[in-house]
Amino acid sequence: MNNAHSALFRPYETKWHSFPNRIAMAPMTRSQSPDGVPTKEVARYYRRRVEGGTPFIITEGTNVNHPPSNFDANIPRFYGEAALAGWKHVVDEVHAAGGFIVPQIWHVGMMRKQGTGHFPDAPSVGPSGLIRPGKQISEPMTQAEIDDVVQAFADAARDAKAVGFDGVEIHGAHGYLIDQFFWEGTNQRTDGYGGSMLNRTRFAQEILRAVRKAVGPDFLVMFRFSQWKQQDYEAKLAPTPQDLEAFLGVLVDAGADMLHASTRRFWEPEFDGSTLNLAGWCKKLTGLPSMSVGSVGLDDEFMASMRGASAGVADITRLVECLEREEFDLIAVGRALLVDPDWANKIRDGRLSEVEPFVPEALGYLS
Ligand SMILES: Cc1cc2nc3c(=O)[nH]c(=O)nc-3n(C[C@H](O)[C@H](O)[C@H](O)COP(=O)(O)O)c2cc1C
Repeated sequence: MNNAHSALFRPYETKWHSFPNRIAMAPMTRSQSPDGVPTKEVARYYRRRVEGGTPFIITEGTNVNHPPSNFDANIPRFYGEAALAGWKHVVDEVHAAGGFIVPQIWHVGMMRKQGTGHFPDAPSVGPSGLIRPGKQISEPMTQAEIDDVVQAFADAARDAKAVGFDGVEIHGAHGYLIDQFFWEGTNQRTDGYGGSMLNRTRFAQEILRAVRKAVGPDFLVMFRFSQWKQQDYEAKLAPTPQDLEAFLGVLVDAGADMLHASTRRFWEPEFDGSTLNLAGWCKKLTGLPSMSVGSVGLDDEFMASMRGASAGVADITRLVECLEREEFDLIAVGRALLVDPDWANKIRDGRLSEVEPFVPEALGYLS
């Protein structure tokens, strides 16, 4: 290890765990769980990343127990005996390698094509039935549907704890269900869940409160959010630091204790007048542990990869500088870890020439 990299490999003490370095595996959807049940191969896949030097695993998105929560039957469920037994095996493997693991619990909302997933006949649900601004294909969610989904997230968190996970991450990003409530582009409700930004956070608040109640005060509850949406890269939930402070304040009050700010390029300043990125602002405004993400170790961002572009290896100088300034605490790494399970150890040892570039074929492995 050389000095320039020391900030990335500095231990991080928290009340939940002593992390030996700052690297986490970003949640990355895979379609490798037939009928939604994680296999032994899935467990090996995560264990392999821990053995390669990444101590903190956030699993691929895994769906809560609500019929239209999923759009691909090979994406894992987070409910039912068989799937939870599969997840327990994943947890055991990761723990055996010394890792820390949280599942990312997820409801896709209106991002689901009708007729897909574990319950193809279930109608897709969303706050206003909008797939994207101006495109409504179903009725707004009823209060009973909202209550069911809140309960499904709480049940998933309870089960995460029961099978031995170290915490849970709630997927509130990227234009999926929770984010569809946050964003006025997809939330046109006129009841207490729509209108002002605070009203649009109400669904997330209810989920966080129910999750916190289900797991107690000491279990890690992470919340992932993003300004950008798959439906609109330029969308801004919080156009100013003041808006962000108000937005985060309600999430923290409702029970979030770590924030995962999803950006496509971690080095981009979030607001004019400061070099801080979104995760940097999370830490500054809330004081909570904060995780950043976006193009670490690669020279192009991930949505380009999803469309078939390659990405070359990039050095991590800028990342280390942010960590040296303690702008955020942890960094999630996505595609670099997908193609190279030993990424962390190679970076630690200065073996940059051995790091694998990202190739689109890596996504073939997912589906
Ligand atoms: C194949 C693939 C699947 C992904 N699936 C998820 C997911 O299930 N949940 C999520 O929050 N983000 C998901 N993402 C986004 C990643 O977590 C991460 O934010 C993004 O890839 C940027 O990190 P990177 O540039 O290091 O790859 C996915 C990304 C990729 C490449």
